[in-house]
Amino acid sequence: MTHIADIMQTAPVIPVIVVDEVEHAVPLARALVAGGLRVLEVTLRTPAALDAIRAMKSVEGAIVGAGTVTNEAELMKAIDAGSEFIVSPGLTEPLGKAAIRERIPFLPGIASAGDIMRGLDLGLTHFKFFPAVTSGGLPALKALAAPFGQCRFCPTGGITLQNAPEWLAFDPVLCVGGSWVSPRGPVDEANVEKLAREAFTLGS
Ligand code: 3PG
Repeated sequence: MTHIADIMQTAPVIPVIVVDEVEHAVPLARALVAGGLRVLEVTLRTPAALDAIRAMKSVEGAIVGAGTVTNEAELMKAIDAGSEFIVSPGLTEPLGKAAIRERIPFLPGIASAGDIMRGLDLGLTHFKFFPAVTSGGLPALKALAAPFGQCRFCPTGGITLQNAPEWLAFDPVLCVGGSWVSPRGPVDEANVEKLAREAFTLGS
């Protein structure tokens, strides 16, 4: 089984994607992958999301997962659509247990020591720090990470091309998530590829 750590280390930025029309899915995925961002988080926030996941999987090099997965029923639908990893804004015990049972790489959201401890109890060590900027930003993550040296993070929520470097410079941060690389609506492939390329270079 692929570990979530491998997925987090594939590229410095995981695009957080909202697909309104399934026709947008393939051009968007193609442009992001062409720019170097291979890990794609498709949020289950629109009716088109599951079909978008199915469609994006046809793009060579894409590693497609589902985001905004908040319960076991959504997890099962996301897996059925072919999701290769699962992201959640938070962590409940039922969702965590279901993800572990299904042996799918899982990145749940945390914003407190109690959240992290609930994850550790389940055997999880890799978390999305969400919502990153409004939860106190990098100082908050540094304070939270200090007692949990075994944990690694993907801050998401308020991350930009401008502030991403300071997050990525903090060792426990393996990658960041953000929607700025995948603007909503009809896809301008050249623009998305440019945004992705800029984001990809954050890792060098
Ligand atoms: C998420 O769903 O993870 C966030 O809404 C993405 O946050 P951003 O739009 O601030 O990048």
